[in-house]
Amino acid sequence: MCGITGYIGEKAATDILVDGLKRLEYRGYDSCGVAGITPKHGLYLKRVSGRVDALDAIIAKDPLRKGVIGIGHTRWATHGVPSEDNAHPHTDCDNQVVIVHNGIIENYLEIKEKLLKTGHKFKSETDTEIVVHLIEEKIKSLNKTGKSGDGDLLEPVFFEAVRRAIEELRGSFAMTILWAKCPNMLLAARQHSPLVIGLGDGENFIASDVSAFLKHTKKAVFLNDGEMAVVKKDSVKYFNFKGNKVEHASVTIQWDSTMAEKGGYKHFMLKEIHEQPESVENTLRGRLLPLKGDILQQEINLPSELIRNIKGVQIIACGTAYHAGMVGRYVFENFGLPASVDFASEFSDRAKIINKDIFIIAVSQSGETADTLYAVREAKASGAKVLAITNTLGSTLTREADFVLYTHCGPEIGVASTKAFIGQMAAMYVLAIHFAVIRGNIFDADARKYVNELLKIPRLIEATLANEGVISDVADHFAKSEHFLFIARHINFPIALEGALKIKEISYVHAEGYAAGEMKHGPIAIIYKGMPVLAIATTSKMLSLVANNIEEAKARGAEVIAIVDEDSREFIKAPRYIVVPRTLEILSPLLTVIPLQLFAYFIALAKKCDIDKPRNLAKSVTVR
Ligand code: F6R
Repeated sequence: MCGITGYIGEKAATDILVDGLKRLEYRGYDSCGVAGITPKHGLYLKRVSGRVDALDAIIAKDPLRKGVIGIGHTRWATHGVPSEDNAHPHTDCDNQVVIVHNGIIENYLEIKEKLLKTGHKFKSETDTEIVVHLIEEKIKSLNKTGKSGDGDLLEPVFFEAVRRAIEELRGSFAMTILWAKCPNMLLAARQHSPLVIGLGDGENFIASDVSAFLKHTKKAVFLNDGEMAVVKKDSVKYFNFKGNKVEHASVTIQWDSTMAEKGGYKHFMLKEIHEQPESVENTLRGRLLPLKGDILQQEINLPSELIRNIKGVQIIACGTAYHAGMVGRYVFENFGLPASVDFASEFSDRAKIINKDIFIIAVSQSGETADTLYAVREAKASGAKVLAITNTLGSTLTREADFVLYTHCGPEIGVASTKAFIGQMAAMYVLAIHFAVIRGNIFDADARKYVNELLKIPRLIEATLANEGVISDVADHFAKSEHFLFIARHINFPIALEGALKIKEISYVHAEGYAAGEMKHGPIAIIYKGMPVLAIATTSKMLSLVANNIEEAKARGAEVIAIVDEDSREFIKAPRYIVVPRTLEILSPLLTVIPLQLFAYFIALAKKCDIDKPRNLAKSVTVR
């Protein structure tokens, strides 16, 4: 997640780029910048660590304002902390080629090593910067550096250099590139990261999404993966990465710009629920090798010796992140490593039993939660090493932890956490399998089985999301209920808690999550005729017990909504079903949580609640 803008035409490019960046800030806002070509100063660039308003203020009277071509970027850090140096655009050694990029280049370290050997100097810690140096290298090898003024002749060189550079990249990218020597064209490319061209009259636009240019044109072309665009003021041509021309028909966008920021969804929460296939992909990307069943350590750099020597794992987190931690506990234990999980705010006393043999995993979307930070400090004081699972580069937690595993889910705007949660769970699976492999707790063939199934999860989430209509109907039916109960066993118990938390947060109604087997020990007394009980009953070794618990609830008048898969459905007798695809039991929380998030969303929608900004809550809780 980052926001990209590009403009070529006859108007003041910077005004258009900056205005577009303001509309894209929901995609990231830790630093930003613009670059353009001005008649007097040639290639010109300004960046700030901070939000677009700050950039706008410092370039108010800048010569940059005079150019008619430029590119802009607002960043959500993935590689390299938020800072001016790491802000985009990035330039090559001679400050002639300039790039903005969204995505993750998986093989950037390999490429960087090669480029360093050929004398390239890097000014940032980003993966993006290697791309612009690689383009510089390709231009050199095409051996036609040319002089300024002969731009049109150099255009094929520019195109071919970018195309060849792209051939060497692995990962995801949307990028826009400008070369000072070709002042009449912009290049854009897309692979697994969105990029759209806005078609104007005597001007054209590039952006991560249409909200950046809707004010100027409603005609758009969405690039496909593996495509490039040559964007000039009066024309746009499309190519595949082999350099062959492709055709595109434009579409007319009917949204207004607020709708566009939310991707056409009514709320950020719904958009973020739908982004979850991508969130899992981004958390897994570059970390799982499907064929070897191995896990890359590149980014986290956890020494194998540490993994072999620890005696247990202690997870600390708050709220939704705590539920991801609970899932993590089951996963670690399943692979033979003792694990426990605590609310960060309740950890203080337990911190006393922590020592260097216990490995701490702190989970926090924001990386700024005061309770979690405090618990981490206490654990460190007891001699333990800490790994942070977080979504936020440069956050306090990343600075205090010994190791960091980023979830790379992009900014989560909705206060109720959804896509960050799924990223946290995915990170737990990555770690737990990795630990099990290193400690020799599972056979390679088993690891491969888990990895291969994990890699299928994004597609299965998509299939689950396709059930939205059914979930919305069920939610509408129960929208007036004053109490909700969520029950499940074992690894889906945290998901029952998460389902209840989501309803409480955004609908302000009472909801309880319970371990299904515990119901008969007291809480079953609260069931009344017509009470909605959501029961997770996917295929598992506990299924017959869950089926019994469902019968017990029904016998007391509960209206059961059973979350089942294709295979478990026949064992469960319930008046209402929500079906999710079948996966390995241990991975099932990654799917069962989806209908519960949607259910909570539709209940809140029916109640006309302020879904993205629920009362009494803040996105990041920085007090204890
Ligand atoms: C629930 C929610 C909160 C957070 C909790 C921890 O939807 O968003 O419960 O999960 O406040 O926040 P982070 O993960 O930022 O530490």
